[in-house]
Amino acid sequence: MKLFIDTANLEEIKTAVSYGVLDGVTTNPTLLSREKNEPVSQLKKICKIVNGPVSAEVTALDSEGMVKEAKELAKIASNIVIKIPSTVDGLMAVKELASLGIKTNLTLCFSASQALLVAKAGAVYVSPFVGRLDDISSEGIALVSDIKLIYSNYGISTQIIVASVRHPRHFVEAARLGADIATVPFSVIAKLMRHPLTDIGIKRFMDDWEKLKRGLGK
Ligand code: E4P
Repeated sequence: MKLFIDTANLEEIKTAVSYGVLDGVTTNPTLLSREKNEPVSQLKKICKIVNGPVSAEVTALDSEGMVKEAKELAKIASNIVIKIPSTVDGLMAVKELASLGIKTNLTLCFSASQALLVAKAGAVYVSPFVGRLDDISSEGIALVSDIKLIYSNYGISTQIIVASVRHPRHFVEAARLGADIATVPFSVIAKLMRHPLTDIGIKRFMDDWEKLKRGLGK
């Protein structure tokens, strides 16, 4: 499973890149609003740091406006992917963008029917938001399972990005289901390699090593 980082923060992206396991970035208007730079220049910087797809979201709500904005965003860099909301207008925009060879990531996906239609329209990626479904007492990860089954029934190649990831369990469940990608905030990436038994084990090995060295008089 590929790992994307869900942030527009350059320091977080650089740190995740330095781990050597990052495959891409997803941003959204909220994440870009937290940064000081103007969004286009921030996206340009992100695209230079990351060797992989970088999702940038349109803010227009009508299909014509989405296509116009997408064409502009696509000029930022060759690795830009256009994030489009999973609405009827989004569907129409995706169809047109696909015909122009512009890659799309259908965001704010909360149902399997949305996921099937956006795939039919030509979406390269679909982003089911698992955390936000959990927030309303629905089971977010069950949606990923449904989409995975439907896509496999019809040999659909749209890639599933598990989004709105809140904790390592979401990441592991996404992998168990065979999702193509999980997009994960930095705070959760930081937890993925942590385990208290690893820390306890290291401490015990280091203590024993010191004892051994003292015993040898070093
Ligand atoms: C995905 O592409 C979105 O940017 C993101 O995962 C939203 O997550 P949130 O529900 O934590 O805002």
